[in-house]
Amino acid sequence: MAKKDEQRQVIFFDTTLRDGEQAPGNSMNIEEKLRIARQLEKLKVDVIEAGFPIASEGDFEAVKRVAQTIKGAQIAGLSRSSFKDIDRAWEALQYAGERGRIHTFIATSDIHMKYKLQMEPARVLESAVKAVKRARSYTPNVEFSCEDAVRTRLPFLAEVVAAVIDAGATTVNIPDTVGYTIPFEYFNIISYLKQNVANIDQAVISVHCHNDLGLSVANSISAVMAGAGQVECTINGIGERAGNCSLEEFVMAMRTRRDILPYKTNVVTEQLTPASRLLSTITGIMVQPNKAIVGANAFAHEAGIHQHGMMMDKSTYEIMTPESVGLKTSSLVLGKHSGRHAFKKRLEELGYDLDDASLNKAFEKFKALADLKKEVFDEDLEAIMTEEMAQAEEKYKLDHITVTCGSFAVATATVQMEIEGKSVRTAELGDGPVDATLKAIKKLTKCKAKLLTYNVGAITSGTDAQGEVTVKVSEGDRTVTGRGSSTDIIEASAKAFINALNRLEVIRERFEERGAL
Ligand code: KIV
Ligand code: ZN
Repeated sequence: MAKKDEQRQVIFFDTTLRDGEQAPGNSMNIEEKLRIARQLEKLKVDVIEAGFPIASEGDFEAVKRVAQTIKGAQIAGLSRSSFKDIDRAWEALQYAGERGRIHTFIATSDIHMKYKLQMEPARVLESAVKAVKRARSYTPNVEFSCEDAVRTRLPFLAEVVAAVIDAGATTVNIPDTVGYTIPFEYFNIISYLKQNVANIDQAVISVHCHNDLGLSVANSISAVMAGAGQVECTINGIGERAGNCSLEEFVMAMRTRRDILPYKTNVVTEQLTPASRLLSTITGIMVQPNKAIVGANAFAHEAGIHQHGMMMDKSTYEIMTPESVGLKTSSLVLGKHSGRHAFKKRLEELGYDLDDASLNKAFEKFKALADLKKEVFDEDLEAIMTEEMAQAEEKYKLDHITVTCGSFAVATATVQMEIEGKSVRTAELGDGPVDATLKAIKKLTKCKAKLLTYNVGAITSGTDAQGEVTVKVSEGDRTVTGRGSSTDIIEASAKAFINALNRLEVIRERFEERGAL
């Protein structure tokens, strides 16, 4: 590795809130997006892509709120290469001042130009240049992406890259939009641009890899080795189809193999596990147990021979420490005698900065939980906060639930809900208490959603642990995950189902608004 590389900094561009959120089941409301953005700030990523402002009012508002709130990172907003998109993107991003980045794109591969855009290459080139100039009229921080770059003819790719840099792009992104490339080829594409674009040193080369062949992290690594300076990635690797390059995998490859990848990064790797868990809690989508870095088994050594080696010396089977990725065992934090001050302090340590009204509401819930449970863990607090955040903008809320059931009784559930501010109540019989409860909720919400899966687990250990219910629900061609927690499993089931119905509402509204795109 050349000596000058030792000083090279890799810029981490996180697109969890844009490409990640686009993936099925990952929709988030504004409060949830802000929560993720705050965690990304703690993680010290360099750029947060907060959304696609023209896509919907919700996307616009989310980008604006992130731009207003986050102070430590640059904030990017996506736009196609049309003036309408770019103007709207800046309207949301302006609040970040000079940290605001307009990210504009157009496809450059023959397939996309012919079938999707129905534009000749010369017109695509012209649009790209005009878009960058328009974006530059707002900010000096402009990124241009050649969508489907990997399947673009190399001479044309080089021509577009040179022209957009000339027009003022400060970052040029070479995405593998369809996850098609392999490390050797991607290395050569980046090398080709370095050798054939005269002004390439005036911009940062960015890479954005999708994971359709499971190669997104490997491809990103080889691109950086070839000279790319920015990596676009997401927490847990979420994103369109098979996802994007996983941030935690990429950064830990860098940290663990400094001998081969001697680059600098600002990322605080101890915040990786909290970031991964927060995202799973918010979306209801857990990572698979064997997922690298953040999966439940990533640091578990089961085989006797491995355990023996670990006892002799950890380096026998451990290439990185659990502490380096922020993995900690559950810690007892609070109990029923804990006061408001200790509660607030612990929430702040977990990254929740609440105003007085929200703190009071959360504290009430904590007290109620502490009455039921001897010990309250961080995970319990996260569950309280997740519910609080989710409810802020929701159409359906659960008020009360009463169930009668037993070996000789027909299960009956009486459910009272608040729907768009109005209190409604009904009762239903069912095949067991959960069935009766969900039937009552369906009747009140008049929804046609189908329950696909139902899982129940415990958040922490002990018979007084909070139960956590996860449901998968579908309506038409949309499937969402819902989660709910309570020391009462029936209540947790009702909350999870209502959470899923609210997510379906968010998606329905979003799709209605995005219909015009
Ligand atoms: O995959 C892709 O090409 C994208 C671009 C918009 C950067 O997400
Ligand atoms: Zn993408």
